[in-house]
Amino acid sequence: MLIDGKKIADDIKAEIAEEVEKMVAEGRKRPHLAAVLVGHDGGSETYVAHKVKACERCGFTSTLLRFEDDVTEEELLATIDRLNRDADVDGFIVQLPLPRHISEQKIIEAIDYRKDVDGFHPVNVGRMSIGLPCFVSATPAGILELLARYNVPTKGARCVVLGRSNIVGKPVATLMMQKHQPGDATVTVCHSSTVGLKEICREADIIIAALGSPGFVTADMVKPGAAIIDVGTTRVPDATKKSGFRLSGDVDFAAVEPKCSFITPVPGGVGPMTIVSLMKNTLLAARHDIYPA
Ligand code: GUN
Repeated sequence: MLIDGKKIADDIKAEIAEEVEKMVAEGRKRPHLAAVLVGHDGGSETYVAHKVKACERCGFTSTLLRFEDDVTEEELLATIDRLNRDADVDGFIVQLPLPRHISEQKIIEAIDYRKDVDGFHPVNVGRMSIGLPCFVSATPAGILELLARYNVPTKGARCVVLGRSNIVGKPVATLMMQKHQPGDATVTVCHSSTVGLKEICREADIIIAALGSPGFVTADMVKPGAAIIDVGTTRVPDATKKSGFRLSGDVDFAAVEPKCSFITPVPGGVGPMTIVSLMKNTLLAARHDIYPA
């Protein structure tokens, strides 16, 4: 069965918008998300544009702060300091990746964890890993929401995560092993040094592919009836598209789809859920649901 991330994301955005109008009717301010975008990376431009559009759909205020590639670390840190202290801004994100002369870790740690709606700050990562309330990063949260909404069985399931990034692989592995559902799975994380990766994948009831390697998961790696979550979004040249490229997932969709029980398409699977999870976190921040004001 095809997992329709776009439809679920649209439904959730409508739910959020309804909630926001209630808040406004009670005299509270609209949730406000700010995004910092450095440079002109095509992927980052697209993601941030989608985030701004999603804010409109949810009835949020949004602010986009743009910087050129040559912005200094000091300038960015000063901007973060300002956003940390701006009482109107409930949450903000700094779109990654950043130019090489800027330390991503330093930037992430400068964000007030109470406004870190990306869930990248070590306080949020640490709280997530021991099961405390926190901002859970958007892509892992979106993946769990899809598994829950499609009733994909996870308790006791063998789950293989491909990729160990801080943004997806590590946090989704942590969430899938947590002792409630969705989760409660037996998780294996595979990466570039894994020996016998194909054999490990063949044992999996759930594969979460987050490597950024187009078509990496082939049909011979998939157990019949497995559930496949494709997090890949690599731009590959395509002369038939107006943009000159198409998005390619980490899964050989055409060959894998007939074998599996569930599969997410690219685009229209995990991507829209990532954005909606960011909107949910922003709403939580505006309501001070996780960290009291
Ligand atoms: N780059 C790729 N994914 C993300 C994300 O979820 N948030 C931010 N800030 N940057 C990203």
